[in-house]
Amino acid sequence: MYNEKPIISKWVADLYDQKVTETKDVEFLLSVIGQTPKRIIEVCCGSGRILVPLAKAGHTVTGFDADEFMLAKIPAKAEGLGNIHWRTADVVRDEWGAGYDIVVLAGNILYNIVSYMDYTKSQELLIQRAAAALSPGGYVFIEYQPGGHYITKPETASYNNDNKSVIWEGTDGDGNRGNMTLLGDNYDAITGMSSFTRRFELTLNNGEKITQDILCQKHFAPLEQLHDWLHKAEFVIEQEYGDCNGSPLSDDSRGVVIYARKAEEITYVPIDETIEQKIIAWFGDGIMKYDMLPNRDGCYRVAAMCGERVVGFAAAAPARWKPPLEQYGDVFIHSIEVDEFFRKRGIGRRLIIFLEDWARNNGYRQIRAWSSYESPEALYMWYAMGYAMCPAVEPIYENGKIKGLNPGYYYAKILNLTPIK
Ligand SMILES: C[S@@+](CC[C@H](N)C(=O)[O-])C[C@H]1O[C@@H](n2cnc3c(N)ncnc32)[C@H](O)[C@@H]1O
Repeated sequence: MYNEKPIISKWVADLYDQKVTETKDVEFLLSVIGQTPKRIIEVCCGSGRILVPLAKAGHTVTGFDADEFMLAKIPAKAEGLGNIHWRTADVVRDEWGAGYDIVVLAGNILYNIVSYMDYTKSQELLIQRAAAALSPGGYVFIEYQPGGHYITKPETASYNNDNKSVIWEGTDGDGNRGNMTLLGDNYDAITGMSSFTRRFELTLNNGEKITQDILCQKHFAPLEQLHDWLHKAEFVIEQEYGDCNGSPLSDDSRGVVIYARKAEEITYVPIDETIEQKIIAWFGDGIMKYDMLPNRDGCYRVAAMCGERVVGFAAAAPARWKPPLEQYGDVFIHSIEVDEFFRKRGIGRRLIIFLEDWARNNGYRQIRAWSSYESPEALYMWYAMGYAMCPAVEPIYENGKIKGLNPGYYYAKILNLTPIK
């Protein structure tokens, strides 16, 4: 892979199969994807450690890898299986194909890619290619452990050592004996790049000795960056763990396992009881307590759905004004929420347009809302949608008494130049 001599590549492939016998990640992957047969592609499938069990579990699998010596291990393991295919291809230069249900980016490939392109770009490219290879609603499985760094705390990452550590020592199937040693490991906190040397020292079966030093580089992409790439490629994270035991992700996690779905088209539907329950499961009981989903006569509620998942909702209700203008009223927006993984796609705007159309068609003269100052991007959205804005400090009540003050804005928009209802 790293332009090493072929005899070294062959030794590495043999040693990989001898030393890397872990099955925990494979079992975890199988449990996450479920038993229904799927069309799966494993990117950088190596010697088939993951690919073959996927095929044995009944999935139709395709794998590719740039290393022919690794791929050469697959036929013996896949004997008798008709649902497995593999080929030689480079993850950056070559096509992946399309129409898969699942793309597997396991074996820490986001940290193990060998690429002569900028490393960070290659990592992001893998996420984009995964999206392009999937059918709508398909999933990417990512298992990623970036060099022992705390994945949520990139600021703590630092090391610079001149140690020499033997990684593998052993003999390949041809009797070539030797070791692979890592020399030094320098981390640059600004670029996130690690550089080290892999030294191969082999004594071949004919007694000849060969040595090769290979300079390697890797990039530590922290979780936030990985999330950003997934978000940009329109993935929605459905499951996220700290490891392949299913441990929750925490500030002590040195890796992450992600199962993310390629977003389907967003549809907008009225909120019925089933959707209401999903929203309560998402936001908690407070949603009803604070009247965020009013369901009285004359109210209007709309949800944004991605498949069966609620990814946004909005609700509005007619509001009477305070005396002495109690015979007049308008429409007040009680809630507008968009799932964080679905923001910046215009869903909030679409939801507001639904509310406005409903209010306009029902003859209301104006629609208004209030929001705290916490999310400046929401302020820009209201502004861009033609709302008049008025800074306002709202009291926070508890048991009828003012408990605090919440600074924010009122927004209002004229919908019909008709008398106030
Ligand atoms: C650590 S192994 C993982 C193999 C397998 N996914 C597993 O978990 O057992 C990494 C694999 O990525 C492959 N690889 C690295 N860079 C690649 C590239 N640019 N194109 C294709 N394969 C690549 C290597 O050849 C190697 O087989």
